Amino acid sequence: MSLFRTKSIDAMIATGQAPGGLKKVLGPVDLVLMGIGAIIGTGIFVLTGTGALTAGPALTVSFLIAALACGFAALCYAEFASTIPVSGSIYTYSYATLGELVAWMIGWDLLLEYGLATSAVSVGWSGYFQSLIAGFGVKLPVVLTAAPGSVPGVSTWLNLPALLIMLVLTAMLSLGIRESARANNVMVAIKVAVVLLFIVVGIGHVKPANWQPFMPFGTGGIFSAAALVFFAFIGFDAVTSAAEEVKRPERDLPIGIIGSLGVCAVLYVLVAAIMTGIVPYQKFAGIDHPVSLALQYAGENWVAGFVDLGAILGMTTVILVMAYGQTRVLFAMSRDGLLPARLSKVNERHGTPVFATWTVGIVFSLIAAFVPLGVLAELINIGTLAAFTLISVAVLILRKTRPDLPRAFRCPGVPVVPLLAIAFCVMLMAHLTPATWKAFGIWLVLGLVVYFGYARRRSLLHTAPAIGGAAAATARDAR
Ligand code: ALA
Repeated sequence: MSLFRTKSIDAMIATGQAPGGLKKVLGPVDLVLMGIGAIIGTGIFVLTGTGALTAGPALTVSFLIAALACGFAALCYAEFASTIPVSGSIYTYSYATLGELVAWMIGWDLLLEYGLATSAVSVGWSGYFQSLIAGFGVKLPVVLTAAPGSVPGVSTWLNLPALLIMLVLTAMLSLGIRESARANNVMVAIKVAVVLLFIVVGIGHVKPANWQPFMPFGTGGIFSAAALVFFAFIGFDAVTSAAEEVKRPERDLPIGIIGSLGVCAVLYVLVAAIMTGIVPYQKFAGIDHPVSLALQYAGENWVAGFVDLGAILGMTTVILVMAYGQTRVLFAMSRDGLLPARLSKVNERHGTPVFATWTVGIVFSLIAAFVPLGVLAELINIGTLAAFTLISVAVLILRKTRPDLPRAFRCPGVPVVPLLAIAFCVMLMAHLTPATWKAFGIWLVLGLVVYFGYARRRSLLHTAPAIGGAAAATARDAR
């Protein structure tokens, strides 16, 4: 039974509010911008090309389906975030409802989602960056442009720009969340402006004939594309990792989650409609900059240049917020004793978990630099969809087990909305490839091995069960 031991919710909330923890500096606008920072990036700037080839002009419908799946899950997230405003996002929520083993597995799953997303997006960033500096006549030595073995027939040593961008952002994160949020807000404002510029300039070039036939690959194509472009929405969940650094978490977290997702859903559907209205979808074959291609196709070359710049800034903020989410999940898992204690040590001067931040930065920058990543988006998607499914299950459970708990935000339409979230997420997972399922299975088995080999015996619920959550954390900090 100890596998399903749960942490006391009241103790968790007390831990999150204990003095000496993370600094509480973030407000609702910071959170919405943080969400948009994590959301708009590779998904819209790179993957929409493949999405259009998979669904045709009905890519807009694919975006709507992915947005609905995320929207239902976001309502569940918002309820949890307002009820248990503690670091660690869904890992923390499942510890309170589904027990330690599920919480560990979901934490392990989040490491895959956030960690690999930072590496994958750094590689996308590097591609755009190299094309931008090439525009100014600067070319890096070929050996420094990609991970070994990632370009067939070309000898490469490492992806230097990907390595450097991750290290720079890690340094920023370790200096302080307030400073990172400020830089994030500026970059987010620019990338949203660039997306709006695309919409305003592009709309005049739409030829409705390009939308015919609308569904060349039928509903199968639409769902497969939805399972892929789901990647474009990942990130709003990272807002919840900030719970302990928010001034009024009960009110502001739901605003951050639902606000950022809503804004991005509207922008994405418009961008997809306009892109496929300007360029016949077949022309996106082999293109990794589909949004700016649409503008070049329309003869708007100078705006296309801005879009490239927006894509670079966009990806920068995605890496920043994802790396941030990653460190906060590590922080929470370590505070519970499931990972080494150093990962939850907060630096006094900066108020951030500096060791956890550099661990994440170094590990995933090395992966970005040296591992040929190929198409990782689907693997990240499956991990995230599994997390969204679990959060929806957890809302249903918590309503039954703790109906009394004060909830500043209540997910509307329970049980229908959580059930819809589960149905949409499972349906999207079913449209991912067998190879993705296999890789995900391997990652989960590895997680089980680490749990039974290490985490289970070190868990504070195991070593200090009588003391329980908050007191146990204090006891361990004092060790
Ligand atoms: N949603 C993020 C992106 O598209 C992960 O880059």
